[in-house]
Amino acid sequence: MMSERSDKMITPNLIEAKKRTNNDVLIKTNEYIVKENLKQLGFNKKYFIKTYGCQMNEHDSENIKAILEDMSYTKCDNMEDADLILLNTCAIRENAHNKVFGMIGRIKHLKETKPHIIAGICGCMAQEESVVNEILSKYKWLDIVFGTHNIHNLPNILNNAIEKQELEIEVYSIEGDVIENIPVKRDSKYKAWINIMYGCDKFCTYCIVPYTRGKQRSRTKEFILDEINQLISDGYKEVTLLGQNVNAYGKDLNDNYRMENLLADVAKTKIERIRFVTSHPWDFTDEMIKVIKENKNIMPYIHLPLQSGSNNILKLMGRRYTKESYLTLYNKIKEALPYSSITTDIIVGFPNETEEDFNETLDVVNKCKFDSAFTFIFSPRNGTPAAKMEDNVSLEEKNKRLQILNKLINKYTLEANESYLNKKVPVLIEDYSEKNKDYLIGYTDTMKLVNVDAHPDNIGKIINVTITDVKTWSMNGKIEN
Ligand code: 5AD
Ligand code: SF4
Repeated sequence: MMSERSDKMITPNLIEAKKRTNNDVLIKTNEYIVKENLKQLGFNKKYFIKTYGCQMNEHDSENIKAILEDMSYTKCDNMEDADLILLNTCAIRENAHNKVFGMIGRIKHLKETKPHIIAGICGCMAQEESVVNEILSKYKWLDIVFGTHNIHNLPNILNNAIEKQELEIEVYSIEGDVIENIPVKRDSKYKAWINIMYGCDKFCTYCIVPYTRGKQRSRTKEFILDEINQLISDGYKEVTLLGQNVNAYGKDLNDNYRMENLLADVAKTKIERIRFVTSHPWDFTDEMIKVIKENKNIMPYIHLPLQSGSNNILKLMGRRYTKESYLTLYNKIKEALPYSSITTDIIVGFPNETEEDFNETLDVVNKCKFDSAFTFIFSPRNGTPAAKMEDNVSLEEKNKRLQILNKLINKYTLEANESYLNKKVPVLIEDYSEKNKDYLIGYTDTMKLVNVDAHPDNIGKIINVTITDVKTWSMNGKIEN
């Protein structure tokens, strides 16, 4: 199941992380337990957690916070005040990785003056064999390392590290079961992340996620719907269904219940807003488009990663669609949902991407005119097939392409935003704006960020806002009287 260095350490193993078994995934409802003697472990102690990466990690941190509070720790927002410091890490690109090692340096300084501090890393980097080897050789002063499949066992991992005063590592490489009783302390009172599935089986050649998050495991609809019904009674307005590849929801379960069925059932709960991320173009069915169109509480916002517009590169990436089929799907969605906003992810500088390949990507951007896009330079990840591909494109050239692409994307983002000027749009008001406390902030149904000039009584409500001014990254609006 896992590689063990000693009875104390369960360390990650790349070969095992690649394996996919046919074993049925078990649903466990009693797996998370805080032993009586650990419930006061954090009494009078503060924890600080820093989260890197995607929504999945944000949501894992919400679980970790609840677990720590079950052990009587209290949250603090300043790392310098903390007795327990956790970095919930991301492995998707090299720069996320470097930021974490920079932070580990800062923690070392803190620990020199306050040796009682317990410090650890968790999340996707903890799942990387090479990272854990680096920790074992250079950062043995860290106290805990635990993986994405080990979160429920945090009370025991933490206790072992404190008792033994030694680095405690627990990282399962082969995913565990679906554990349904992990507590959650949500950051927002109005919108909630809901995992509908874990892991990914797509193995795009550049991507480390299938190794760090394991095989695809869908939650059953009963648990998902119960969670949403509870959120509705707690006053929540919005749920975002989370998965690496949500459109493949249910394919690992033994029935024909798929994403379109789940979306329709979630819509029936009457929660006011439903979002879902991330979609893979491969599994986006006509049925799904139909369900989105028929249900007003499914938001007209779709994140549809393109990655590249070149068929050569898409093939090398293992994406299983072509430029043409992506465009067909895009047009189908826009035709059915003309008001929807569609955003994307694009990687430039994949190994041996030619000028021609890059122009194909620009061509798709010109055709789709995305509402916005996350753009990245290819970052080789240890253990993935693309990391081994020879690459003749210089970093200078890749940077140049990224700049050209960003300029084009920003042009279309501004154009899309301009079409909102003087229009009235529904916004879920979330909070005061951090930049200017005279304003509130919220998102439109189409996921546009709006600064709203309105009374704070509106926080937590969906209100109609007239857009008065637009920029590339945000809009301003005022409440209609
Ligand atoms: N290099 C650059 N970008 C990557 N992404 C995933 N893996 C890599 C990588 N190795 C991007 C993809 C994905 C987004 C979450 O991150 O565009 O959709
Ligand atoms: Fe990575 Fe591809 Fe899975 Fe997305 S679908 S998480 S890019 S392997």
